[in-house]
Amino acid sequence: MERLDKILANLGYGTRKEVKSMIKKGFVQVEGECVVDSGLNIDPQKSEIKVNGEIVVYRKFIYLMMNKPAGVVSATFDNYDETVIDLIEPEYQIFNPFPVGRLDKDTVGLLLLTNDGELNHRLISPKWHVDKVYYAEINKPVGVKDVEAFEKGIKLDDDYKCLPAKLEVIKSDENGAEVYVTIQEGKFHQVKRMFEAVYKNVVYLKRIKFGEVDLDNSLEEGEYRELTQGELDDLKRV
Ligand code: URA
Repeated sequence: MERLDKILANLGYGTRKEVKSMIKKGFVQVEGECVVDSGLNIDPQKSEIKVNGEIVVYRKFIYLMMNKPAGVVSATFDNYDETVIDLIEPEYQIFNPFPVGRLDKDTVGLLLLTNDGELNHRLISPKWHVDKVYYAEINKPVGVKDVEAFEKGIKLDDDYKCLPAKLEVIKSDENGAEVYVTIQEGKFHQVKRMFEAVYKNVVYLKRIKFGEVDLDNSLEEGEYRELTQGELDDLKRV
């Protein structure tokens, strides 16, 4: 149960003050009855609310996919840098979304944002082994030895032994390589540190897949959209 004014404000119908005034003026109906008490407690999942005669589609959670640009941090707040939350519209900010896991400031690509704490927990927990696929450009050639080392489990600089990771070489020559890397964990700077362990550097990193969800290639960097029902179902199946 929640206060009517809070429900409508959270859904983006205005500030709490604006919503209160709207209710007072008789623009809001609950179960077909005009309600003028903003403090009325109702269960929005069960009671039908109308504003100006239009049914309010209630939702508790939002799920967004962003093509994260370089230069912004995957956090909800930062003293110095722009955050991924700064890039989204107020109509979504009101749901207080947060990023699912983190991408480094210079990493681009698929970032999920939600206010669904339970799903977030499952997606980032190492227990559930959710595949994350990255496209990476490397400063040196990448070969069979690296593929085998990734498959065996790379030991990072802090002696942590990574789970087996899949490394696919798209192309490699004396100038460097382009690869796909699939990991199931999300240790700090993991992909970069895995390559450092084999004496190479990642010069460009883009996440292209999270679980079964692919980055929508029609999203420019900095753009985002809601997940489709199909994408959400895929994530929830994890
Ligand atoms: N691995 C990294 O090194 N950086 C990221 O942003 C994601 C994975």
